Amino acid sequence: MEKLYEGKAKVLYREGPDTLRVYFKDEATAFNAQKRGVIPGKGVVNNKVSAALFRYLEAHGVKTHFLEEVSDREMRVRRVEILPLEVILRFLAAGSFARRYGLKEGTPLGAPLLEFSLKNDALGDPLICENAVLALGLAGEEELEAVKRTTLKVGELLKAFFAERGLELVDFKLEFGRLGGEVLLADEISPDTMRLWDEKGEPLDKDRFRKDLGGVEEAYREVLRRVLG
Ligand code: C5P
Repeated sequence: MEKLYEGKAKVLYREGPDTLRVYFKDEATAFNAQKRGVIPGKGVVNNKVSAALFRYLEAHGVKTHFLEEVSDREMRVRRVEILPLEVILRFLAAGSFARRYGLKEGTPLGAPLLEFSLKNDALGDPLICENAVLALGLAGEEELEAVKRTTLKVGELLKAFFAERGLELVDFKLEFGRLGGEVLLADEISPDTMRLWDEKGEPLDKDRFRKDLGGVEEAYREVLRRVLG
């Protein structure tokens, strides 16, 4: 298969005229790739967790690019035109939000908070407001409304899904793609792109790698174990 793109955590291959094969790697980066490492088994966990969450969301009426799991590290997806936006939904303050406003991690937010960043590594994925998204033509008005509506719905669904499994969903990042006049949920949903805290408040996500907390592989495996029930 022709390799179309290799990113920090995934490789995309052209499979059919309208489908891609996504291969999930064990390589990990953080802080805009200033920190690099390998988390053995991460690719398997991220593929399987993403597949399970895409299936769950599809079953609840969310349209995604997901088609099927092909192997431990690979999934087949619809080919979409990715919007250059990282859409973040936060339930508790953490990470860049906590740093920006001088808040303690875990501070509750009055309501789920939606943020957009411009997907641009060279610029360090800067925050972008909705007006700028429209002014720069990154998404149309209807697309932006669909992205916001879907992200809030995904947030409610995922929060409930993880709560049933003893995990608190702190925040997550989504990406969307255009296909035939619709916007579909795309990319991945995994411990690389979510913050999840267990019953003791211990992070079971990429923060273990970012903050050198140790037990990174175990945390990823634990998330997979709970997701698969
Ligand atoms: O770092 P920050 O607090 O802005 O991240 C918010 C959420 O978005 C976290 O769950 C993080 O893992 C995710 N994220 C991501 N990719 C990025 C930036 C953040 O998946 N480039």
